[in-house]
Amino acid sequence: MIQVAVLGYGTVGSGVVEVIEKNKEEINKKSGEELNIKYILDLRDFPGDPYEDKVVHDVNRILDDPQVQIVCETMGGLRPAYDFTKRALLAGKSVCTSNKELVAAHGPELIRIAHENKCNYLFEASVGGGIPIIRPLNYSLTAEKIDAITGILNGTTNYILSKMEKEGADFADVLAKAQEKGYAEKNPEADVEGHDACRKIAILSCLMSGKNVRAENIYTEGITGITATDFIYARAMGKTIKLLGKSVNGEDGFYAMVAPFLISREHPLYMVNGVFNAVCVHGNMLGDSMYYGRGAGKLPTASAVVSDVVDCARHIGKVIMCFWDDQEVALADMERMRRRFFVRVDAKREREAIAAFGSVSVVEADVSGEFAFVTNEMSEKEFNEKAEAAGIISRIRIEE
Ligand code: HSE
Repeated sequence: MIQVAVLGYGTVGSGVVEVIEKNKEEINKKSGEELNIKYILDLRDFPGDPYEDKVVHDVNRILDDPQVQIVCETMGGLRPAYDFTKRALLAGKSVCTSNKELVAAHGPELIRIAHENKCNYLFEASVGGGIPIIRPLNYSLTAEKIDAITGILNGTTNYILSKMEKEGADFADVLAKAQEKGYAEKNPEADVEGHDACRKIAILSCLMSGKNVRAENIYTEGITGITATDFIYARAMGKTIKLLGKSVNGEDGFYAMVAPFLISREHPLYMVNGVFNAVCVHGNMLGDSMYYGRGAGKLPTASAVVSDVVDCARHIGKVIMCFWDDQEVALADMERMRRRFFVRVDAKREREAIAAFGSVSVVEADVSGEFAFVTNEMSEKEFNEKAEAAGIISRIRIEE
């Protein structure tokens, strides 16, 4: 029997316990041994909960128990999750986590410590919730040189943008309703400002490069500036607006960014709506492959954590390879990235805009007092210089 401990009995932690209980037959068969939840660490007590007698408040009960071989870290945040994870790994206990903040900040160090101690640090649930994406990158696409990853990596913002598109509503109204219904956090900053998607594309960029890409070095723009009027133009162009995390490993360097993009109906991510996430991976031999599913929520996320538990159970005393070392990737200067831009200017500045941008494709939509257009392909640097001369209202990048 393999003894498991769960750190944090919140949404994901209680989901892990539920998945292990509900699917115990399948899970035990696939693990090759029976799994047993021996401890649940939480500050709170849970009177009446079927697992109430497993709840402990002192992490040392778990770390000092040699019977515990696998720990699920579902606490979230950097502290104390970092210290508990490190101590568990140093004690030779594998750790499975949903904590993207910790993985993005300390991934290579924790993987190294795990391997030095003949155990594993697995993090399938840290990106895309229940969608298998970490394991495909680590195991299935090993024959590929991955040149690009593009993903809808945040359910909250995708829900908000989908609603804005469908209802013609403004950002603030949709956010308020999403908060009322519990779809968006009371403090939605990490989601709407793109920080959550940034951590996730950082993790994917690390697995793509095998080196370390720091989240704080990734250009990140959220969706707070997107308006109902932007969606009127998007519809007129046969496009929609999505918050994308992108990494490109091209001839001129490694780029990574998070920002809202206009995407066309033909784009594989166009149909990804509501809280769903999807990740498109481009390999140099395979071409495109796409991974789609529930990117958040109790049971989908817990299912991914438990899939890691099964993997750890199958590899007790053995290291599961993960190519992510701590050498930093020098990110290419994002000002050199080339693309087309959708631009809105005050109607009175049409001549200045044309003088600055040259030939443009005018976008006709039912919006008065504005001149809107799509630029030719240019670098971000060129765009910023021209935009300053033209005095633009807003711009959205176009994903081709
Ligand atoms: N806040 C995240 C989201 C949860 O909205 O996608 C899953 O990481």
